[in-house]
Amino acid sequence: MNKVYVCLLTLIILSCQTSRRTSDANLVGVVEQNGMVVSAHPLASKVGSDILQAGGNAWDAAVAVQFALAVTYPVAGNLGGGGFAVYRASDGTTGALDFREKAPEKAHRDMYLDGAGEIIDGLSLRGHLASGVPGSVSGMVALHEKHGKLDWNKLVQPSIDLARNGFPITEGGAGGLNRSMESFEKLNTFDLPIVTHGEWVEGDLFQQEALARTLERIRDHKNDGFYGGETARLFVEEMKRGGGVISYDDLRQYEAVWRDPLSTDYRGYKVITMAPPSSGGVALIQLLEGIESYNVSGMQPAGARKVHLMAEIERRVYADRAEHLGDPDFYGVPVKTLTDEDYIAMRMEDIDGKRATLSSEIRAGEIIPYESMETTHFSIVDKDGNAVSITTTLNSGYGSKVMVKDAGFFLNNEMDDFSTKPGVPNQFGLVGGVANQIDPGKRMLSSMTPTILEYDGDLAMVVGTPGGSTIITSVFQTILNVVDHGMSMQEAVNFPRIHHQWLPDRILIEKNALDEEVKSKLMDIGHKIDERNSIGRVDAILVLKDGSLEGAGDPRGEDTAIGF
Ligand code: DON
Repeated sequence: MNKVYVCLLTLIILSCQTSRRTSDANLVGVVEQNGMVVSAHPLASKVGSDILQAGGNAWDAAVAVQFALAVTYPVAGNLGGGGFAVYRASDGTTGALDFREKAPEKAHRDMYLDGAGEIIDGLSLRGHLASGVPGSVSGMVALHEKHGKLDWNKLVQPSIDLARNGFPITEGGAGGLNRSMESFEKLNTFDLPIVTHGEWVEGDLFQQEALARTLERIRDHKNDGFYGGETARLFVEEMKRGGGVISYDDLRQYEAVWRDPLSTDYRGYKVITMAPPSSGGVALIQLLEGIESYNVSGMQPAGARKVHLMAEIERRVYADRAEHLGDPDFYGVPVKTLTDEDYIAMRMEDIDGKRATLSSEIRAGEIIPYESMETTHFSIVDKDGNAVSITTTLNSGYGSKVMVKDAGFFLNNEMDDFSTKPGVPNQFGLVGGVANQIDPGKRMLSSMTPTILEYDGDLAMVVGTPGGSTIITSVFQTILNVVDHGMSMQEAVNFPRIHHQWLPDRILIEKNALDEEVKSKLMDIGHKIDERNSIGRVDAILVLKDGSLEGAGDPRGEDTAIGF
């Protein structure tokens, strides 16, 4: 292995981590003039920034970052998953791409239930049957064909090099692999090289030759390099070995879909966000409209009044999500009504400032524990002001934990995002019904909320996050932090988060989010509170008054902003 090359990559990772720590201390992110990429891995941000500097536009950089994350951040970056892109071009036109996974043709409503109609534990989460048909490669091809400027192979090649030559693994990367070793061993049909390597330590060289070869096929044949030919053969063989049902036809028929983004006005900002099959955009609009009539800027950012208000609005919005949201190609999602001002006002009119509503007064459900989960978001702005916001996922960390033999990528476990049985919560505690039941070829409902804000006709912010059900409320809070509380982008990203999702009926808070007095006040008026180490990993960009860009990577992860 070329030692100079590895040293160089180590330097990039270390220098990025240093700049991240400095940024946190000053509570201002990385400020640059000409372009910015914020993603979950320093090397992926570097790949994107290099593409921008080489004359690529924001869409080019997005494609390159998506592939780079598949190599550097396999816990969530992916070829075997899916996601959503929202963009705003410098001329103000907007668009949204849905490259969400689909249920295979052999899927059916009760596929995760036993003879007695009970859920078979873990079947929608782990192993070959948990995967939907992946959409990421089709998504990247579609983005590039419509908006790309540089040659396709220039966007894929950096990831091939990273996979083949390897790079020093970060502390987070090593920890993630080590924590999943047992599952990898149990759920795979062959010995994964990442398992036979043994315990991973920060700085170990992470090489993925099989993945490099898959990426080469994608570089040379675009969609046919993934949904056809050798990769499809390896994919279908893997399915057969492990009892999965994704077929050649499923792969061949997969297509990313252009959708009209949703938008709303919030205190003079135009918020542009994802349409169904994400629930994120509808819910974000309901949250923002629901809170707009209150004087949020006059409230303490983490005071009892504001937390109570957010929790009350959130529980009502998530109740709607469970009932009404699903894949619009299969179910008539009433988007117009749900995002209608009067409807939202009506939904919020029984909020009592002095008492928590019981979620059971709105609707009933059950609680299950959370398991480790991962998704990833990246935000990009180029020198012309084109902006791309992408959230992409395998669902849980390393998805179904199943790797396609000789193809080197993990398969998603997105089937768990369907309502596998009406009223029974999924891994995020989310419930659903008919709107989100499994049907062949249907896209499972998502919470991913890639979002862009403009002000006075100009780009203002690019934002998004992983976090399952907490995605929507994390994006919501980040917007409030900037728009209502005047925080810098980095401050808004760092600020502790809270979350309510109707069921389970409790406010979930980050450990340091609320002081004891605020917690007591909230409990006195009827709220239950649970704590979690961290909620979301927001990667965002704010356009400053002088036109420069403030990139903010979330310090909860190894997320890094790199601009120039
Ligand atoms: O699409 C969704 O809503 C989920 N599959 C996202 C999963 C996720 O964010 C997990 N990450 N922390």
